[in-house]
Amino acid sequence: MKENNTIHENELITIGENLELETVFLQNVRQSGDIGAFRDVAKQFEELMMTYSCAINEVRTKLEVLNEEFKVRRSHNPIELIKYRVKKPASIYEKLLRRGYPVSLESIEKNLHDVAGIRVICGYVQDIYMVADLLTAQNDITLLEIKDYIKNPKPNGYRSLHLVVEIPVFFSTECRKMKVEVQIRTIAMDFWATLEHQIKYKNDGDVPEGLVEELRSCSDVIADTDLRMQGLYNQVYS
Ligand code: GTP
Ligand code: MG
Repeated sequence: MKENNTIHENELITIGENLELETVFLQNVRQSGDIGAFRDVAKQFEELMMTYSCAINEVRTKLEVLNEEFKVRRSHNPIELIKYRVKKPASIYEKLLRRGYPVSLESIEKNLHDVAGIRVICGYVQDIYMVADLLTAQNDITLLEIKDYIKNPKPNGYRSLHLVVEIPVFFSTECRKMKVEVQIRTIAMDFWATLEHQIKYKNDGDVPEGLVEELRSCSDVIADTDLRMQGLYNQVYS
């Protein structure tokens, strides 16, 4: 540390291990020039991300328990795959700026509901609603928001059921209620969303004009196939 406790930008590279984290809080350091303050905020940020990661673990466990139970009791596992992630610091920063929210730890917790994200991939459409109902019925889970893009697909053809839930996470000295975004979709819906996302990404965030209609049409075909597969399932298991 410098004697006058100020630092230069090129010294940031030596602080912390995560360059993205430095990007997020560069502003903070620029304002204060105080390396101690930067370290404190970086530590608090790391703690907050750990808390989100633990919240993901809590919700994942609940989903895995439900799946195990169904496998044994009903010879059917509603969940094919669970993916999850804690939002990257650069994405958190970008979203706060894009939405006009302050860049602070309090603001992250208050304004973003998708820092902790879980994606649940199910075999059949009915599994989606069953998993959502069973998860949100648990008495330590609070449902904060639900968006049904299956009943009301986005104009581009995106389909999924989105929940934002709050779950208590117990630490050594406190219990914190954390938000987790849960996206639930079929394998077919996930296939469409993944490829649509890749097409967007390859084209700087926009689907080329000529492909919009074709993508929407693919989504309709997929939705129809999902319904037919559900029909097959109902015949086999009735
Ligand atoms: P975001 O700023 O995108 O988080 O929007 P939001 O908070 O209003 O929520 P919304 O329910 O619209 O979308 C949340 C998440 O769903 C996104 O971050 C994506 O992971 C996914 N999603 C939503 N729309 C689309 C879409 O059109 N295509 C794909 N591939 N994914 C989507
Ligand atoms: Mg979101």
